[in-house]
Amino acid sequence: MTTLAAWTWMQGNGEVDLASVTGRMAGVLAAYLLLTVAQRFLSRNQIIKSVNLQLNLLMLALLVLVFLKPVLALMNPHVGNAVVAAAIFLGIAIGLKLGDVLIFDVLARWRKRPQVPLVMRDLGRWGLAAIALVLIVREFFPGVNLNVLAVSSLVVGYIVGNATQDTLGNLISGLALNTERPFQIGEWVTVGGHTGMVVDTTWRATRLRTKADDYIVIPNSSIARESIVNFSRPTRNHGCYLTIGVSYETPPNKARRVILDVLANSPDVCAEPKPAVYLSGYGDSAITFTLKFFIADYARQDPIQSGVMDRLWYAFRREGISIPFPIQDCRERDAVRDELAARAAARDSIRDCLAGVDLFQSLSPAETDRLVADSKLQMFAAGETLCRQGEAGDSFYIIHSGRVAVWVAGADGNPVLVAHLGSGAFFGEMSLLTGEPRSGTVTAEGDVEVVCVSKRDFAGLLEVDEGLAGKLATLLEKRQTERQAKMADSAGAAGIPETSVPLIDRIRHYFGLV
Ligand code: CMP
Repeated sequence: MTTLAAWTWMQGNGEVDLASVTGRMAGVLAAYLLLTVAQRFLSRNQIIKSVNLQLNLLMLALLVLVFLKPVLALMNPHVGNAVVAAAIFLGIAIGLKLGDVLIFDVLARWRKRPQVPLVMRDLGRWGLAAIALVLIVREFFPGVNLNVLAVSSLVVGYIVGNATQDTLGNLISGLALNTERPFQIGEWVTVGGHTGMVVDTTWRATRLRTKADDYIVIPNSSIARESIVNFSRPTRNHGCYLTIGVSYETPPNKARRVILDVLANSPDVCAEPKPAVYLSGYGDSAITFTLKFFIADYARQDPIQSGVMDRLWYAFRREGISIPFPIQDCRERDAVRDELAARAAARDSIRDCLAGVDLFQSLSPAETDRLVADSKLQMFAAGETLCRQGEAGDSFYIIHSGRVAVWVAGADGNPVLVAHLGSGAFFGEMSLLTGEPRSGTVTAEGDVEVVCVSKRDFAGLLEVDEGLAGKLATLLEKRQTERQAKMADSAGAAGIPETSVPLIDRIRHYFGLV
């Protein structure tokens, strides 16, 4: 349309070749698009970004002047003058903006001067730009009466502005958004109560994609009026807050330790800034804690928070911390009897579990009873680490239900999967019996219940049964040989370190039996 209109208009001004005009205009458009794309890639710089719009227009004007010179020569000389005047004005506007940033941002920050308010800076810049505009109009259009021009522009502006208030408002706000750039495509924002990822910003509206995977189109004029929360700035990190209540029997420091441990081991929770736990209140039935931690991906906030809450439940259960809840129905309950019944049930589970382990087949009934009484039943959530390679370990685990994976660091430092262990299998025996650091990392593949035996309980058994250390050593040496054979198959896995001291002596020495 534009091309055709230009052509029709020029018919009255001289001879032109339609094909050549169309070709040149297409050339200008292509060159402009190319330069815009190049500029998008090159201008990561914040200062360049702030004059993006002016730079674009200046580029367009220069392209028109260079490529469409013959066409302009055919037109009314005012057209060419207008393009040159616009280019000069845009150049001055860019210079003013860069000068503004240099003086009030860079230099002021460098010399530690107080910041000049933005409005004052803008007014100053606009004043200088207005003077430049008057001078340019005078130079290029000497016949124009500036007074008449000012009054008629005001009247026309008033009429057009009233007639197209909404559209104009959106357009101007769109311009402002493009210049100010309070958000960019791909960033997560909340505007006017709507939260979503910015998909695009046109002259009319901005489109957000919500967590429910819906689009929300917000007119730019509304955005200009609303306050904007940008979750992706100043950094991609976003702080999350969760609250959880624990029973009054739990010492706050214990609860804090357990919560911090869960946060430190939760994937997707940033290590820096460090998570924090605040005791936020003493409620009717619970001590309330507020957890503050950072995530690097706002889009995954819900699953990450849910993962943290899951792990807290398991960790609290393992540590004997209860999460109180308001009880609606009134029941008479013998708390002591219930507690005893729960303990008896746990003991039965432990006894069943120990009965299936070859390591304990030689224990007398009395020794087994003692072991059952001292052991603890613990639950771990899928993905949790039960013991970590290189750490000190003084407990031994028998799997009651579920499955775990055993990982050993390879020569390149990457973990190599060496075994899956299921119900009835045991692990953690090497550290417990020799005092050496854990030889592997064990993680829960699903929810896992394990019987945990401490070094103290084992020491008691070794004291009453003198032959037990020997039996254990034989059994463990057999397992160790089997494991080393398996590990030789998995390329790169660093094996369980061999020592010249026999295992039985290492066990006796560690438990002080020599
Ligand atoms: P410990 O060294 O105390 O802690 C890690 C445990 O992982 C280790 O005891 C064994 O029980 C177990 N483990 C280490 N390497 C292997 C392996 N190659 N196969 C099976 N289990 C292993």
